[in-house]
Amino acid sequence: MRQYRIAVLPGDGIGPEIVKEARKVLGVVAERAGVRFVMEEGLVGGAAYDRCGTPLPDEVMELALASDAVLLGAVGGPQWEPLDYSLRPERGLLGLRSGLGLFANLRPVVVFEDLIDASPLKPDVVRGIDLMIVRELMGDAYFGKPRGVRVENGQRIGINTMVYTEAEIRRIAKVAFELARGRRRKLLSVDKANVLEVTELWRDVVTETGRNYPDVELRHMYVDNCAMQLIRNPGQFDVIVTTNMFGDILSDEASMLTGSLGMLPSASQGEKTAMYEPSHGSAPDIAGKNIANPLATILSAAMMLRHSLGMPEEAAIVEKAVRTVLKEGFRTEDIRQAGAVVVGTAEMGDLVAERVGALPA
Ligand code: IPM
Ligand code: MG
Repeated sequence: MRQYRIAVLPGDGIGPEIVKEARKVLGVVAERAGVRFVMEEGLVGGAAYDRCGTPLPDEVMELALASDAVLLGAVGGPQWEPLDYSLRPERGLLGLRSGLGLFANLRPVVVFEDLIDASPLKPDVVRGIDLMIVRELMGDAYFGKPRGVRVENGQRIGINTMVYTEAEIRRIAKVAFELARGRRRKLLSVDKANVLEVTELWRDVVTETGRNYPDVELRHMYVDNCAMQLIRNPGQFDVIVTTNMFGDILSDEASMLTGSLGMLPSASQGEKTAMYEPSHGSAPDIAGKNIANPLATILSAAMMLRHSLGMPEEAAIVEKAVRTVLKEGFRTEDIRQAGAVVVGTAEMGDLVAERVGALPA
């Protein structure tokens, strides 16, 4: 029997609840595909800090490196905010990203026909939206040095550094062009080249890389304009490639096209094990109430099947199961609609798992 090792890192807040549902769905996938998923859980984020004094214990990093894929929930919560930066839950996530060399974060934004009315935008604006945000994940102010807060001339001064080497820009540009090739062959690169030199370099290097992809139409846009265009006319976009920080912000914005941040999966790829996680955070305010939407995590697991485990048919079945459950009128609280049946986190997981088991191959 084929066997895969999956590191499962639930994290904080709603993380454990939503990851549990994805595990449920993966369990049914394994049964129907006749494979074995060895799922080993590890602590990350605030949960790891509380138990081990660090947001990313060495053995969890080792587990991730030794696995075929990592499935992560979410990290963070108000109780850890007073901690030093080096100990905060977010450092656990950033440590995994850099330790695994995950420089490319793919965030597909797909509007499901049955959720059209869940979006705060007009149906005509969001209908049929299918775009892919390719967010650079290992550079920018997230990792740039110098950084920190220090005292100078009697006052505090805070510093972060937005920095990119041309090699870093080229490798993410390549990922984006390749993806565009497999889609509608349109790539938009987002920068702030009118103000920031680092993104002027970004624009130059993306343009240079584009010479190897004459079949892909390349456009450039300033990030402020892109933020506006995403709401005005999102249908103009296919693949969007951008920096770590701009990608963080634009992907949260784009998620609302789908109706909820709870619908947006993500895949992070690099040189080693890839990692799959919902694009949303740990939502501590709703943790433990069985109302979180597990679909972003379940859809992330589908991306894992497709991109890391070589199981594209099973990935499609999971995605189809999600669409089926939505079509049947089941909703979690965040995508509540008149006339729909609102179910809890666990019930939504059960429904998707059942459909995965029942759908024909
Ligand atoms: C995301 C999150 C993270 C980020 C946080 C939790 C560090 O917002 O994955 O988008 O900023 O990258
Ligand atoms: Mg974010």
